[in-house]
Amino acid sequence: MTIAANTLESMATGFDVHKIREDFPILKQHIHGRPLVYLDNAATTQKPQVVIDSLVHYYSSDNANIHRGVHTLSERATEAYEQARASIRSFLNAADASEIIFVRGATEAINLVAQTYGRTHVGAGDEVIISAMEHHSNIVPWQILCQQQRARFRVIPINNDGELLLDEFEKMISPKTKLISIAHVSNALGTINPVREIVALAHRWNIPVLVDGAQASPHLEVDVCTLDCDFYVFSGHKVYGPTGIGVLYGKAELLDNMPPYQAGGDMIASVTFEETLYNRLPYKFEAGTPHVSGAIGLGTAIEYVKAIGLQNIAAHEHTLLTYATAALLPIPGMRLIGTAKDKAAVLSFVLDGIHPHDLGTVLDQEGIAIRTGHHCAQPLMQRFGVPATARASLGLYNTTEEIDALVAGIHRAREVFA
Ligand SMILES: Cc1ncc(COP(=O)(O)O)c(C=O)c1O
Repeated sequence: MTIAANTLESMATGFDVHKIREDFPILKQHIHGRPLVYLDNAATTQKPQVVIDSLVHYYSSDNANIHRGVHTLSERATEAYEQARASIRSFLNAADASEIIFVRGATEAINLVAQTYGRTHVGAGDEVIISAMEHHSNIVPWQILCQQQRARFRVIPINNDGELLLDEFEKMISPKTKLISIAHVSNALGTINPVREIVALAHRWNIPVLVDGAQASPHLEVDVCTLDCDFYVFSGHKVYGPTGIGVLYGKAELLDNMPPYQAGGDMIASVTFEETLYNRLPYKFEAGTPHVSGAIGLGTAIEYVKAIGLQNIAAHEHTLLTYATAALLPIPGMRLIGTAKDKAAVLSFVLDGIHPHDLGTVLDQEGIAIRTGHHCAQPLMQRFGVPATARASLGLYNTTEEIDALVAGIHRAREVFA
């Protein structure tokens, strides 16, 4: 059954997970004498050899500061950096590469929008709407903004499956609403939110929508033109790229009218002591020497993912999710947190009588990496009445055999704590 599921899939789609695993050197190792089973992909993903090679190549052959130099290395580095931006433009189907801004990650992108667009468009008595399933990165920047501006912070409730209550959302929108910020996919539940519908509703009131795509970009095809969202953010390290690099997409007319976030080199057109004129997009938002190698590595990761095909990745992960859900549910005392109809590859759960941290520790002894805790979503944990969950999150290189190992590990933990 187990081997057949992977093999059948590879015959049907050409997606060969065992071949893909060969691209990821880290997966070849043993942990505590067992083959590593890496199921913590929502926290960060592993890197294929091509991404590692692109970083080594950059530092071995092309390293230079960008945009300012006339020498060959600087030209090469600039070209590679801008090529990465072009790859990301096509990955998101943005209208223009100038709408792609390199940042440190989803967190920085959200803070950027809050402190630039937010500070200039949200005033006293206005409202910002988020949802009950947001990551702290999509809560705290808005809380701070609302405190700064004396605005009101509102939260779309969810049902017991972890789905947004869209009727409630519709009732919340009013002329006071100045911005909506919503996760595309929840990191703690796996829920895929109907962002296209949310954007359409918001746009009836001319309200811009930021979509937090940190957990969507590795799993779903994203088309910012079809979604018609105003901002879209994601982190490179969750989509098989390096840490410390991420992307803010914004519609050009919004970005053009926003003040800069940080000030310094490269974000200027001209400086005198009397006046500074800002650079054009996207450079207005890329002050200082950027994370050149990170951007190049991310560009390579995006090309890697595109070559495999997000549809193939989504289909593979859906097979795994269905398999894992069916395998976990019969375990005595198992409660899945996050049972939305539309779900990406996240399995959050609690087990009667075993604290998630204890479960995580036992699984680690078996070579299995999962995450335990509040997943930077404390209000969501409160909503479900649990302090923490265990979370297995899947990626393109995971297999049904690894799900079997997880289930066996959970049974072992139950024996230990019986
Ligand atoms: C839904 C969501 N948003 C935002 C973030 C923040 O990402 P980063 O820490 O890479 O900035 C995460 C990270 O887990 C996330 O899952």
